[in-house]
Amino acid sequence: MRPGETDAIEIHQLRRVFERRVGWRAPRVTREALTGIDLRVRAGTTFGIVGRNGAGKTTTVKILSTLLLPTSGSVRVAGHDVVREAKRVRALLGVVLGGDRGFYQRLTGRENLRFFGSLVGVSGRRLHDRVAALTEQLDLTFLDERVEACSRGMKQRLHLARALLHEPPILILDEPSLGLDPVAAAQMRALVHSLVPRHTVLLTTHDLFEAERLCDEIAVMRRGAVAAAGTPEELAVQADLRHRVSAVVDGGSPAEVTDRVRSVLDVTSIEASDAGDGRVRLTLTHRGAGTGVQDTTAALVALGLRVEEIRVIPPDLEATFFALVGA
Ligand SMILES: Nc1ncnc2c1ncn2[C@@H]1O[C@H](COP(=O)(O)OP(=O)(O)OP(=O)(O)O)[C@@H](O)[C@H]1O
Ligand SMILES: [Mg+2]
Repeated sequence: MRPGETDAIEIHQLRRVFERRVGWRAPRVTREALTGIDLRVRAGTTFGIVGRNGAGKTTTVKILSTLLLPTSGSVRVAGHDVVREAKRVRALLGVVLGGDRGFYQRLTGRENLRFFGSLVGVSGRRLHDRVAALTEQLDLTFLDERVEACSRGMKQRLHLARALLHEPPILILDEPSLGLDPVAAAQMRALVHSLVPRHTVLLTTHDLFEAERLCDEIAVMRRGAVAAAGTPEELAVQADLRHRVSAVVDGGSPAEVTDRVRSVLDVTSIEASDAGDGRVRLTLTHRGAGTGVQDTTAALVALGLRVEEIRVIPPDLEATFFALVGA
């Protein structure tokens, strides 16, 4: 970060406890949804939060959006405190909680946008211009249909339009592609991608492919805590996952090749299978850090094997996710 630059979002030691009473006289049951999390989102980037059901993603999003108060800790949006400066924060944010709620179902999309625009101070000529611009940007061809007649994909785009009406610099999206078909989900991803870097985006998702595609940095949440945060590569390192090396070699059966490779290389895993024509496909993981292509090639050649092809397979986010949060 350059000196003097403020993070778009700064979360420090955020805790949230929910209390509920099952019956009138029953003792209060408390649940710590957030146990004291720290997160930073740099301006102009896309930040993803992933984690299993109940990990605390929506709770974090709601606190950021000023819809829920923190129990303790601090949350700042562009340097403004979400509790003390809630109004200022709301002006800086576009929030998409998604789903079927959040619109007047009997009104058209356009009527809804007019109404919600007026709530955030966008009216008259500006509202007209904004709706026209968003129609183009988000392909809102269905604005004159009642919301109740809109599909999930249409509603989701309408949610995004509503969030963008007042041109907020920061967007918060809770599961933007939930329930969308593969085409609509891809369109939603393309839309979100087109918003960066003019907007900073924080999104939650269960789609790890989506997180990997869209996000510069990702936080993996687990039981109300941040298990790890960073780029996908940094997460893989934190999860202690190594790159794998895949090679096709010539010079022995899979079992023989495995034994010989094990005798010269320190590997945590090795798989060997018949690749046809007397060749063997090897996939191995080195115990030490680094990708190990050169070391591996040298070792295989020294064993008298002919190396036909060799490449590095970086860990994917799914493997990282499983390593960090468990099955
Ligand atoms: N209003 C509430 N009252 C009581 N407990 C709540 C409330 N809202 C959330 N919780 C609890 O807080 C924890 C975190 O919930 P949250 O909705 O933030 O999870 P999430 O990561 O968004 O999950 P999901 O992937 O299912 O959307 C859960 O244990 C949940 O039951
Ligand atoms: Mg949620």
